[in-house]
Amino acid sequence: MTRHMLGLHGVTAESLGMIMERAWRIRQNRQQYREKLKGKLIAALFFEPSTRTKLSFELAAHWLGAEFIHFPLETSSRVKGESLLDTILTVTAMGVDALIIRHSNSGVLEWLKEKVDVPLINAGDGAHEHPTQALLDLHTMYHYFDSLKDIEVVMVGDIQHSRVVRSSIWALKTLGARITLVGPPSLLPREFEQFGISISWRLDEVLPKADIVYLLRIQQERQQKGLLPSLADYTRQFGLTAGRLSLLKPGVLVMHPGPVNVGVEITAEALQLLRSWPRERAQVCIEHQVASGVVVRAALLDYLLGEESHEITA
Ligand code: CP
Repeated sequence: MTRHMLGLHGVTAESLGMIMERAWRIRQNRQQYREKLKGKLIAALFFEPSTRTKLSFELAAHWLGAEFIHFPLETSSRVKGESLLDTILTVTAMGVDALIIRHSNSGVLEWLKEKVDVPLINAGDGAHEHPTQALLDLHTMYHYFDSLKDIEVVMVGDIQHSRVVRSSIWALKTLGARITLVGPPSLLPREFEQFGISISWRLDEVLPKADIVYLLRIQQERQQKGLLPSLADYTRQFGLTAGRLSLLKPGVLVMHPGPVNVGVEITAEALQLLRSWPRERAQVCIEHQVASGVVVRAALLDYLLGEESHEITA
């Protein structure tokens, strides 16, 4: 049976817990895992840009002793018109043990999984899912909270285009967190209400209840014209500004998947102030999230490809 990580929709608390537990074990004793995937070959095909996801998968593979190749699409036969499926089938025919794929088309990995017999890992597909980002965010949250049950998570920004939101919602709901989505009406589809998620168009009204404020990147590459009056207007209404810091609950976590548009989702002044505050007052977790990315991706690779591997149960 082939094992994939395509998304977190429907993934059980048990599977999430097992991946989290393995990540903790790797964090505590990396040396024990350094040959776990020796002899495995992992290929990454990124049809969209990436810094964090691509590099952290590469480091994670390196930690586990696997070979890692990043397929250079810009000099491949893709530029001669080779189809996505032909590219994928060509790479798998050469004998790889897993494929990590980022692509702009939502759901493309669901389509590919019927056509290949190697594990597929979704590194972000359109506005659909980015499961490993949500997993690394969970790992970061568990550093600060023993349980996520009834934790109030306020996710702010471009909900419409965010694959991070979709993966996070499924996982956080499964683990019992309470979620509020806030953003401009043009970027906040009401479809989420059917899943018991609160919707707000006013950041100032929901900030005081948040245990975690999760800022989303304004995706300028995915914006259609007219969805926002201007970035300055967005920051005035939905940015975490120095003026809004007084609304935050003591001990709040401030998270962002990166890359951060400083001056848009959060101002430089607010970021600097938050970084100077003690943990009891607030904690900015952006670097912690990045570091968690390597640990969690190592755990996932081991979970899918290692000797003690498992299905992701849904
Ligand atoms: N958060 C995230 O996916 O970052 P990259 O686009 O740099 O991989």
